[in-house]
Amino acid sequence: MSSEIAPHFSSKDAVVCRGVGKTWAAGTKRAHEALRDIDLDIKPGEFVVFLGPSGCGKSTLLYLIAGLEDATGGQIWSFSDKVEMPSPERSLIFQETSLFPWLTVWQNVSFGLAIRGASQEERRKVAAEALQRVGLIAAMDKRPDELSGGMRQRVAVARALAMRPKVLLMDEPFAALDVQTRARMQDFLLDVWRDSGASVLFVTHHIDEAVALADRVVVFTSRPGRIKTIYPIDLPRPRNLFSREAETIRIQLTELLRDEVDRAFAEQEAFATPA
Ligand SMILES: Nc1ncnc2c1ncn2[C@@H]1O[C@H](COP(=O)(O)OP(=O)(O)OP(=O)(O)O)[C@@H](O)[C@H]1O
Ligand SMILES: [Mg+2]
Repeated sequence: MSSEIAPHFSSKDAVVCRGVGKTWAAGTKRAHEALRDIDLDIKPGEFVVFLGPSGCGKSTLLYLIAGLEDATGGQIWSFSDKVEMPSPERSLIFQETSLFPWLTVWQNVSFGLAIRGASQEERRKVAAEALQRVGLIAAMDKRPDELSGGMRQRVAVARALAMRPKVLLMDEPFAALDVQTRARMQDFLLDVWRDSGASVLFVTHHIDEAVALADRVVVFTSRPGRIKTIYPIDLPRPRNLFSREAETIRIQLTELLRDEVDRAFAEQEAFATPA
């Protein structure tokens, strides 16, 4: 029961996971264990990156923390509330933008407020503030297909910010962007993060991205995903990503990940080979 477990976590933390596991299709022949025994504490305002081989359960853990899926083991809290359903305090941004093409930019940004029953005037005001923060106020009345990929992801960030979340969950949000745009988006995200005071949980495959962004990097094992290690990055910001220290961190993270990526590939090959 949660009351027995409650004394083990600090209620001030933005996210607390204790013994969290997820088996998809649990109890059926197709049962598939994605995550096991995740213990994690995320402080308010912290920037944490999830790094791990494909299929190790990074997205699954974000969905559990978002409250979109139920854990099959353990418990999750956010600011002392048990996570049992989605909340506007925890916004999830997906890899592919999920903007509604038939709505304008400002209507997309304020969509969550519309569900809450906010007036058109209030929605437009909140959307304008959020779009100002992502540098897209001029695009307010455009539609998503008039924007570049980077701009669309900035609109997705604005939509998440409009709900004033305390926790921003980002699932490879910049993966579809070219390298130059991605670097710009990382700088932009760091600015937004500093201003918002929110905790960010950010999934990536890119070690460079982890070094650019993270206060701490959570490195996952291959499936079922467990935490292999939590790697703190103490480099001052703004970071010089070409420094010797940054290079050392990149090498260490690459080594931590290599065995897990090999194991994940072996499993996926076995899965793909007909018996
Ligand atoms: N809805 C689902 N139903 C059943 N199995 C799922 C579901 N979603 C994910 N899985 C499985 O759970 C495991 C973890 O998937 P998940 O998408 O969390 O991995 P990931 O670490 O995000 O991978 P990637 O880096 O490729 O995005 C995988 O083996 C995947 O096939
Ligand atoms: Mg994923």
